[in-house]
Amino acid sequence: MSARKILVTSALPYANGSIHLGHLLEYIQTDIWVRFQKSRGHECHYVCADDAHGTAIMLRAEQEGITAEQLIQRVSDEHQADFAKFGVGFDNYHSTHSPENRAHSERIYLALRDAGHIATRDIEQMFDPVKGLFLADRFIKGTCPKCKTEDQYGDNCEACGAAYTPAELIDPVSAISGATPEMRTSTHYFFKLPNFADFLQEWTKSGRVQSQISNKLQEWFEAGLAEWDISRDAPYFGFEIPDAPGKYFYVWLDAPIGYLASFQNLCEKQGIDFDSYWKADSDAEVYHFIGKDIVYFHALFWPAMLEGAGMRTPTGVNCHGFVTVNGAKMSKSRGTFIKADTYAQFLNPEYLRYYFAAKLTSGVDDLDLNLDDFTARVNSDLVGKVVNIASRCAGFVKKFGDGKLSATCAEPELVERFIAAGEGIAADFEAREFARAMRKVMELADEANTYIADKAPWAMAKEDGREQEVLDVCSVGINLFRQLMVYLAPVIPELTDKARDFLNLESLDWASRESVLTDHAINKFKPLLTRVEPERIDKMLEASREVLVEEQKIKDGTAKAEAAAAPSPLDTDPIADEIDFDTFMKTDLRVAKIVKAEHVEKAAKLLKLTLDIGGETRTVFSGIKSAYAPEALEGRLTVMVANLAPRKMRFGVSEGMVLAAGDDEGIYLLEPHTGAKPGQRVT
Ligand code: MSP
Ligand code: ZN
Repeated sequence: MSARKILVTSALPYANGSIHLGHLLEYIQTDIWVRFQKSRGHECHYVCADDAHGTAIMLRAEQEGITAEQLIQRVSDEHQADFAKFGVGFDNYHSTHSPENRAHSERIYLALRDAGHIATRDIEQMFDPVKGLFLADRFIKGTCPKCKTEDQYGDNCEACGAAYTPAELIDPVSAISGATPEMRTSTHYFFKLPNFADFLQEWTKSGRVQSQISNKLQEWFEAGLAEWDISRDAPYFGFEIPDAPGKYFYVWLDAPIGYLASFQNLCEKQGIDFDSYWKADSDAEVYHFIGKDIVYFHALFWPAMLEGAGMRTPTGVNCHGFVTVNGAKMSKSRGTFIKADTYAQFLNPEYLRYYFAAKLTSGVDDLDLNLDDFTARVNSDLVGKVVNIASRCAGFVKKFGDGKLSATCAEPELVERFIAAGEGIAADFEAREFARAMRKVMELADEANTYIADKAPWAMAKEDGREQEVLDVCSVGINLFRQLMVYLAPVIPELTDKARDFLNLESLDWASRESVLTDHAINKFKPLLTRVEPERIDKMLEASREVLVEEQKIKDGTAKAEAAAAPSPLDTDPIADEIDFDTFMKTDLRVAKIVKAEHVEKAAKLLKLTLDIGGETRTVFSGIKSAYAPEALEGRLTVMVANLAPRKMRFGVSEGMVLAAGDDEGIYLLEPHTGAKPGQRVT
């Protein structure tokens, strides 16, 4: 097999926030894949960068009283330190605020413009006269024109679900300055995405994206592609558009171009030929790893931009789902919004790498980090099964072989089988079916342990004259362990590197496994990994809560906005001091089984629940998305108000309400004790 040329990227993290465990799923997934490709002997480059532009970063710097450049430098250092702790081995980490990115952004933009893919037109937008800024919808708040709930964002009401434009809000205010915004007109630049409709239809069906994603894209095609607004008015932290003074590239225009910029920067350092990767007829492969929230940018805008600029398009856009913790969305109040740095203070990053690998498929389903399962899995697989093989055998090799393995392999067929298994495992890694690869590796580990347990070298060692036999068995054990180290090296590079030292090997590359180790000196065995201690997990959760408290103090305004809880289903009209018994009894409360829970497109806080109340099915929209992942709810019981008048919302009709306790700290759905039946009345 000849060496492939492969360029790999992960999405560029925003330069105004810390890396957390959700992000890490992506960087770990990508890093495992990259390490695997390198192990296979391919030329593989892994680049990333900070996504440094945009209004949010500009405002954050201003709030901290530093320049945007200072902010992005500090955050970049912090991000890179975090990635290093988790063994994420970028070949280059750059910034979108770089000369390379400016050059590529201008070049691509001008190519698109000259080919007729850019339009300009005037748009009306809210303007903050105090800050001198045009305001994106999320920076405008006001009272809902429909239900009159106060403090709603500029595009839709979280209380009643109504959709509107910021201009329709009652008493709109700028969320930045509190000033009353004015309508102003300004010329914007648009990328004519519809010019690429046919190209994109083809492209998205040609195996570049997973099938779930191409189905989703199909819906977007049917809805029709719109021109994309790629300009923002000054003041804006970004690049000015050529021949358009005072107009800046929207952050999402130059963000993916940041992939090119970082690679360009690497090419200059290492003498790699940039064009051989990016020219239209390149034979190199390019893969972007991203989360499911940014598919639109990577599977529509980005390939269209590249195509329009006469460049090659990605070989694949590999999308993953979102991380949940203990079955729910990461939550600041529960301490499950865990930053990379906080995790690393308490737990070994390789535990997390293994756990993610053990659960990752090539699909886009969300991945739950269940902390009990995490502890059990790491302890039983890595410590109990894998490391155990070496620790059981090493002592006897030292004792009976003076640290040297037997001159001939006592079980050539067994070792051969472990070597042969590498082909299937390689195919799984290649296909991003890491969970399947890990299952196979653990089956091999079970086999190795069974072999050793059957032979019981510790029993033989007590009998005279069986020293050679003991050495033979343990030499086989060490050989099997070595195979596992090759297969696990992309996943837990730090542990396997220590094992490589112990095994006294130059390399754990895939091909290196084909030699059987005989008459080979190994080094002293040192413990490779300790067990996960549940107390450390508790401490980590505690510290995550504390980190949050600290940040609240520092961040003031923005922290408040971010942490603002979703309206609880209880947030309705003011509560009466007293009601009579009959009034209460008019409320039809029922035990309901959640048969289905789904995300609602474009709703920040709502989940759509399908409830079974004893043969009758109800659809209810509930503002509990911040607290629950949909799949964590399915099959559970709760309590609903069954005779509430149906409410028409933007997303559909809500036929009732589920009961939950809630405040700023979190939202907790009520659940009856075990035994309650759907449809039973609650009194
Ligand atoms: N800056 C953009 C990406 C620009 S790429 C040209 C961005 N940044 S981000 O910091 O919000 O997210 C970076 C990556 O982390 C994205 O792929 C995103 O999907 C992923 N994740 C962020 N939170 C996540 C989880 N909770 N779970 C899994 N991935 C998540 O988007
Ligand atoms: Zn409303």
